[in-house]
Amino acid sequence: MNANAAVAGMDSSDGPAVRAANPLALTLAYHERSKHRLDRYAAGPGPLDWDAQPDPFRCWNWTQYINLPRQPVELPVLWSELNAERPAAPLTLANLATLLRLAVAVTAWKSYEGAKWPLRAHPSSGNLHPTETYVIAHWVDGLADGLYHYQARHHCLEWRAGEGVLSEQPGLWLGFSSIHWREAWKYGERAFRYCQLDLGHVLAAVSYAAALLGWRPRLLACGPAQVAATLGLDRTEDFAGVEAEEPDVLLAIELPGTATGAPPQAWGEWSGAPSLLDPRPMYHWPVIDEVAEATRGAAPDLSGFAQVSAPALAPEPNSIPVASVILKRRSAQAFDGNSVMPHAVFRRLLAALLPGGAPIWSLWPKSARVHPVILVHRVEGLANGLYILPRSDAAVPALRQALRANFEWQPADPELPLFRLVAARCGKTARTVSCHQDIAAQSAFTCMMLAEFEGPLAEDAVAYRHLHWEAGMLGHAATLAAEAAGWRGTGIGCFFDDADHELLGLADRRYQVIYHYAIGMAVDDPRLTTLPAYD
Ligand SMILES: Cc1cc2nc3c(=O)[nH]c(=O)nc-3n(C[C@H](O)[C@H](O)[C@H](O)COP(=O)(O)O)c2cc1C
Repeated sequence: MNANAAVAGMDSSDGPAVRAANPLALTLAYHERSKHRLDRYAAGPGPLDWDAQPDPFRCWNWTQYINLPRQPVELPVLWSELNAERPAAPLTLANLATLLRLAVAVTAWKSYEGAKWPLRAHPSSGNLHPTETYVIAHWVDGLADGLYHYQARHHCLEWRAGEGVLSEQPGLWLGFSSIHWREAWKYGERAFRYCQLDLGHVLAAVSYAAALLGWRPRLLACGPAQVAATLGLDRTEDFAGVEAEEPDVLLAIELPGTATGAPPQAWGEWSGAPSLLDPRPMYHWPVIDEVAEATRGAAPDLSGFAQVSAPALAPEPNSIPVASVILKRRSAQAFDGNSVMPHAVFRRLLAALLPGGAPIWSLWPKSARVHPVILVHRVEGLANGLYILPRSDAAVPALRQALRANFEWQPADPELPLFRLVAARCGKTARTVSCHQDIAAQSAFTCMMLAEFEGPLAEDAVAYRHLHWEAGMLGHAATLAAEAAGWRGTGIGCFFDDADHELLGLADRRYQVIYHYAIGMAVDDPRLTTLPAYD
């Protein structure tokens, strides 16, 4: 179906039934209206009342709590050994606690002038953390079989249900949902995109933590109804009067040589009541519910694909333990605008973005459909300018055809699929297209994540979510690789979509930029105090 025609065929007066019947048109219309433009931002709230922001933590009351060991188990894996095979750690409560601690827990509190706020193992747009984590345990040593909600504030599990129909095999599954309001509170209509990018970061964070334990996360190809039933998110009576949770995805956490099937879909007994996050929501953004509905579908399937594989580059010298990299990760709030990134660091960082280059890409069952376009400002031995890293063989001719005709396509690396498109100083451009944010210009380089767009969406509108997940995963791989080398990254969800497209010479929606990411030498804010994650 021609997507332009689909949007054109939809009238703004069409009722919900018509729009639900045309998910592609609705998704494209959402994408257009949630674009930031040079002359106006996507619809969002007016001035914010910071004292009235939603509670950053959901908890389940009136149930049993299981405290998890706060200290992660000792995992002496160095960053340089990250991609190596290792024996699987046994399925125990301490190892599960470590997985959660390194993927979704609080890693620090910051304080300034009496205000105090928590930060977690994965970044989140506006530090709002819309993603909720659930655990399904079957024969995990030290933990009763059942469904639990993970509570990051206290690093504990909250009992939700038990007595499900479980298989004979031991198993561990993680489930994820999003509370869209947490993002929409601050970002209005664009918030749905941020929830998807955040989920990509979470999936990547889980992959890194699991790799340390010798475990393999696998996306289960279940539809939203199954995810909701498994996690109890369809129990409307539980969510009466509080914010609903959007069912996102289930992951089986497998030990090598084992295949974990689907988790139970029917539970015997339920307990707990979810907390209310925002007693006085000031706005309502119906378009978020509409695009959520239009893009509901199964997780990406395991269709065959041809990938560019990451070359084996010399590992990071002076490598530090992966767990420390994860626990000290932070988003830079400012870069120094001077430091020049060594070429070897830049290359290792790009290799991590290629299939095979980081643990996350064994989780991602789809061919690579998001390709970083890189604005290089300060990288040793590389001319400033615009570069591209096509992440699949098939993408090269298609991108050449779609992007600006006079781009050079000059090979820029002997091993990586890196091409220079144009040599130019591009700091001002990077700042302008990134909603005038200095970090995009003061970085060593800033990526624009360019997604194959209209084709995947025309096949199934659920691709809108999956492309954002993939972009979030790319951001996460870049940020951890940077952190391991003494550099730092920051996601940039605020950018002027069509200004990017104009820069790249894109006149249609075959490709769309869906995320920016900047990497540079961070300048810390001395006014902030860092406090431990848990007492
Ligand atoms: C999807 C996404 C979009 C973001 N957009 C911006 C942005 O536009 N500008 C910015 O300075 N930081 C941005 N960030 C960084 C967050 O503000 C940061 O992750 C959050 O404050 C938590 O801090 P931490 O990453 O150090 O834990 C973004 C992060 C994510 C995941």
